[in-house]
Amino acid sequence: MSSLTDRKNAAISRGVGMTTQIYAERAENAEIWDKDGNRYIDFAAGIAVVNTGHRHPRVIEAVKAQLDRFTHTCHQVVPYENYVALAERLNDAVPGDGPKKTAFYTTGAEAVENAIKIARHYTGRAGIVAFAGGFHGRTFMGMSLTGKVQPYKAGFGPMMNDVWHLPFPNPLHGVSPEDALAALDRLFKADIDPARVAAIIIEPVQGEGGFYEVPTAFVKRLREICDQYSILLIADEVQTGFARTGKLFAMEHHGVAADLTTMAKGLGGGLPISAVTGRAEVMDSPAPGGLGGTYAGNPLAVAAAHAVLDVIADEGLCDRATRLGQRLKQRLASLRDDVPEIVDIRGPGFMNAVEFNMPGSDSPNPELANRVREQALSRNLILLTCGVYGNVIRFLAPLTIPDAVFDEALDILEESIRAAR
Ligand SMILES: Cc1ncc(COP(=O)(O)O)c(C=O)c1O
Repeated sequence: MSSLTDRKNAAISRGVGMTTQIYAERAENAEIWDKDGNRYIDFAAGIAVVNTGHRHPRVIEAVKAQLDRFTHTCHQVVPYENYVALAERLNDAVPGDGPKKTAFYTTGAEAVENAIKIARHYTGRAGIVAFAGGFHGRTFMGMSLTGKVQPYKAGFGPMMNDVWHLPFPNPLHGVSPEDALAALDRLFKADIDPARVAAIIIEPVQGEGGFYEVPTAFVKRLREICDQYSILLIADEVQTGFARTGKLFAMEHHGVAADLTTMAKGLGGGLPISAVTGRAEVMDSPAPGGLGGTYAGNPLAVAAAHAVLDVIADEGLCDRATRLGQRLKQRLASLRDDVPEIVDIRGPGFMNAVEFNMPGSDSPNPELANRVREQALSRNLILLTCGVYGNVIRFLAPLTIPDAVFDEALDILEESIRAAR
């Protein structure tokens, strides 16, 4: 063990898990160098955060310019123009016709918490429906909405009440969209009157849960059910947002507009910022002072977010996400004959995953997924696993990754999968 690892173990709660022991020294676009000068290709992007790459020059320039003006006034005390301008941009960009409004926060979990607060306030109802396998953060409401007990909920109870989980439509794991809709029907008959439900929250592509994309017909039906019972639909786009899926927001793939959209991660290009954008009438329900936060919409992060939106548009990152994802999925597909453990290769844009089972069986193979991750790390490629069974490798490289680095990573990935079997 390195002395830094010893110091880390002595100083930091073990609850803060770590997938690598690489201590970052510097990072540029899709590469990270550690303290010993080793170079890594980053296929994690800080968990879907630096979609525009580490230290994109335009993001750095925008933050530096803001540093020279002011770093914090608290928008609730002395507001600033770029916060207003960023809200205007998100109101235009988030799917949905009609007037929209935005409030800024710092983390994804905080955006989720506030979306639920706003939904409860507007509807005057308490119930919230979420999905098994979903992930919505580590705060109390985020954790309660999350549909995975280990390690996120175990021992932290009691959870917030009036949160109900449905099976996520996932044919690979035996849940058809019809099964999930039947479960909703049963929920409304057996457990909670739909007239008491404030919102249904869904990730358009489950992130931590395994990169499963919700079928379009299912989202459309959810929208109809929400309209029928005056329930709000919340799209949690914290991981799917900002060009990752080949669109600015994943809900664009379905042609369905949520009432409220939560976002974070990719928005700040590495600086902490999150947001809730939604129908103006809904967003205006809470009284002044009911929303906000000391650091919410920090000026440096807001400046970074403007640059991120410019870069996504100017560098055509939605199309690039689609192209990169196609190449990755083709490469994985070319291994299928040699690697029968591969049961699925999926994901819109560059939000891709490969899932492993035991050979010739339906049993998940988390050991293989983990060995692939370790083999890749030993070859200086950083990968992340995910999924309710831990048998999925997810790919989240920056969308700005240079072609040569991407090709190198694909070669390492293939070698690592072959070596891990
Ligand atoms: C869909 C989704 N919602 C919420 C969160 C929580 O975000 P944060 O970790 O910034 O609180 C995450 C984080 O992974 C996420 O993927």
